[in-house]
Amino acid sequence: MRRMGIGLAALGRPAYINVGRDGALPADRTVEAMRAATWQVLDAAYAAGVRWVDAARSYGRSEEFLAGWLGERGHRDLTISSKWGYAYVGDWRTDADVHEVKEHSLDRFRAQLAETRRLLGDRVDVYQVHSLTPDSPIFGDTALLHAIAELAAEGVRVGFSTSGPAQAETVRRALDLEAGGRRLFTTVQSTWNVLEPSAGAALAEAHAGGAHVILKEGLANGRLAVDPPVSLHRAAERHGVGSDAVALAAALALPWAGTVLSGAASAAQLRTNLAAETISLDPDELDELRSLAVPAADYWRDRAALPWT
Ligand SMILES: NC(=O)c1ccc[n+]([C@@H]2O[C@H](COP(=O)([O-])OP(=O)(O)OC[C@H]3O[C@@H](n4cnc5c(N)ncnc54)[C@H](OP(=O)(O)O)[C@@H]3O)[C@@H](O)[C@H]2O)c1
Repeated sequence: MRRMGIGLAALGRPAYINVGRDGALPADRTVEAMRAATWQVLDAAYAAGVRWVDAARSYGRSEEFLAGWLGERGHRDLTISSKWGYAYVGDWRTDADVHEVKEHSLDRFRAQLAETRRLLGDRVDVYQVHSLTPDSPIFGDTALLHAIAELAAEGVRVGFSTSGPAQAETVRRALDLEAGGRRLFTTVQSTWNVLEPSAGAALAEAHAGGAHVILKEGLANGRLAVDPPVSLHRAAERHGVGSDAVALAAALALPWAGTVLSGAASAAQLRTNLAAETISLDPDELDELRSLAVPAADYWRDRAALPWT
C-alpha cells in the first residue's frame, strides 16, 4: 500500500498560494479546464497505486470534481478525506480579494457536512476540521464536539488539520478532546517539511497513541521544488531524482507518517513527486536536511506572504 496520497488544494479552484503554477495548470482556468486537470492527476495517481485523496469545502469545486471522477471511474478502493471549516468565497476568480473564510461553529459544520454529503454521499471516509489553531472556538464548544462525535458514531473517521506556528500545541490539545469517554479525533493532518519540522514530536506521540498521521505541504507550497536549498539539490543529483522527491522522501522516512500528501498540480509533477518512494535517504543525508529547518514563526510568516495566483 502506497503511503503517498494526493491533495486537491491546487486543482479544485483557479487560485492558490503554491509557487510555480503557471507551468503546470491549464492556461485558461475555467471550471471545465480545472475539472479536466483534476481528473488527469487523479487518473495518474490511481494508475500509480495512490489510494488516498484529500479534498476540502474551501478548495472550490474539489469535492464536485472528485465525485464526478469517482462516479465515472467506479473506483471503490480509495480513502477519501475532506475538510470543513473554511468556506470558498473566491467566486472562481484568481484576483479575488478573499478566497476563503474560516468559521469553526456548529452551523458551519452542519451546513458543510450537508454540502459534502450532497456531492460525495457516503464516500467520505475521513472528515476533518480545517486548519485548527489553539484559539479555535471548537475547544470550548461542547455542542459542536458532540455533533462531530455523532458523525464518528456513524462510522466516519473524524480528524483535524493544523496550521500556523503552534501546530504541536494544537495537535496535543485536540487529541486530548474526548466524547463519551473516548478520544474524539482519530486522524491528524499537519504541515511537515524540511523547513518546518516543528510538529514532529507531537505527531510521533499522536501516532503512538493510535492516530493516523497525514503530512501536508511536503514541498513548502512548491518552494522546495522550484527553488531548492543547495543541500537538497545536491542530494537530488546524487539520487538522480528531483529535489521534490528528496523533500518528500524525508517525510516518508518518518516512521510515524501514515500518509504523505502530494499537492501536484499536474500528472508530470505527480510522477516526479512519486519518485520519493524509489529512494531512501541515509542517516547522514537526513542529518544534513535537518539543518534546513527554520523557526516556525518565520516559516509561517513567509507562507502568509505567498500571493494567491
Ligand atoms: N490547512 C490544511 O488542511 C492544508 C493546507 C495545505 C495543504 N493541505 C493538503 O495537503 C496537500 C498538499 O499540500 P500542498 O499543495 O501545499 O503541497 P506541497 O507539496 O507543499 O506543494 C505542492 C506544490 O508544489 C509544486 N510542485 C510540486 N511538484 C513539483 C514539481 N515536480 N516541480 C515544480 N513544482 C512542483 C506545485 O506548485 P504549483 O501548483 O504552483 O505548480 C504544487 O502545487 C493539499 O493538496 C491539501 O490536500 C491541507
